[in-house]
Amino acid sequence: MKVIFLGPPGAGKGTQAELACKRFGIAHISTGDILRAQLKQKTELGKQAQSYIDKGQLVPDEVIISIVEQRLRQDDCENGYLLDGFPRTLPQAEAIDGRIDLDCAVNLDAPVETLKERLCGRRVCRECGATYHISRISEGDPCAKCGGELYQRSDDKPETVENRLRVYREQTQPLIDYYDKKGILVTVDSSRDLNVVNAEIVKILGKYA
Ligand code: AP5
Ligand code: MG
Repeated sequence: MKVIFLGPPGAGKGTQAELACKRFGIAHISTGDILRAQLKQKTELGKQAQSYIDKGQLVPDEVIISIVEQRLRQDDCENGYLLDGFPRTLPQAEAIDGRIDLDCAVNLDAPVETLKERLCGRRVCRECGATYHISRISEGDPCAKCGGELYQRSDDKPETVENRLRVYREQTQPLIDYYDKKGILVTVDSSRDLNVVNAEIVKILGKYA
């Protein structure tokens, strides 16, 4: 199974991708997570990416395409994979066209007020990257999965969130049409409870398992 998750920042791509990948035994490839891991290790790529991420801008296409090409060569992709947050520009989509036979493009969608509330309240584990929301944890709580410290992503500050939403509208939203024309687009209302959203995604992806 080869799937992409489209959708604005905060739609729940990471949350739903983790559940779906566990369910179907496929690799979860999040370009955002790869970049944040590079940032944490202070690699050259991480330093280069930081200025873009902190401003809510996209990292240049050629950098991202090369990261994804390398990642797809790893053994865990043999059973299939889910691309979370890639492609998010037309050049990125064109780069994989004809090279990857995508089964489905799942477009997670939620109203903008929901997105803002989710992003500004998100907390992430510094160690394992698990994601939480302040409405479901208490101040100072450690990560329930590994005990690590929870922090707020630098790009989840309100002014950066506004910019990320604008960048999404200008550069990523056109992909909805792009995949719709290819006949592989399915839109899921991700403003609902996460178990309800997960059940719908499992049903959609089940056809390709
Ligand atoms: P990336 O990390 O991909 O960020 P994003 O696309 O902005 O999306 P998010 O990760 O913020 O949101 P999400 O949809 O995964 O939501 P989540 O599940 O966490 O990219 C970061 C940056 O890296 C980019 O800005 C760019 O600079 C760079 N980058 C990455 N890929 C790139 C590319 N291809 N090209 C160029 N640059 C790239 O959920 C959000 C919150 O809501 C959480 O707190 C969660 O607990 C909560 N939540 C989720 N679902 C529900 C629900 N159903 N009900 C209630 N709460 C929920
Ligand atoms: Mg994410």
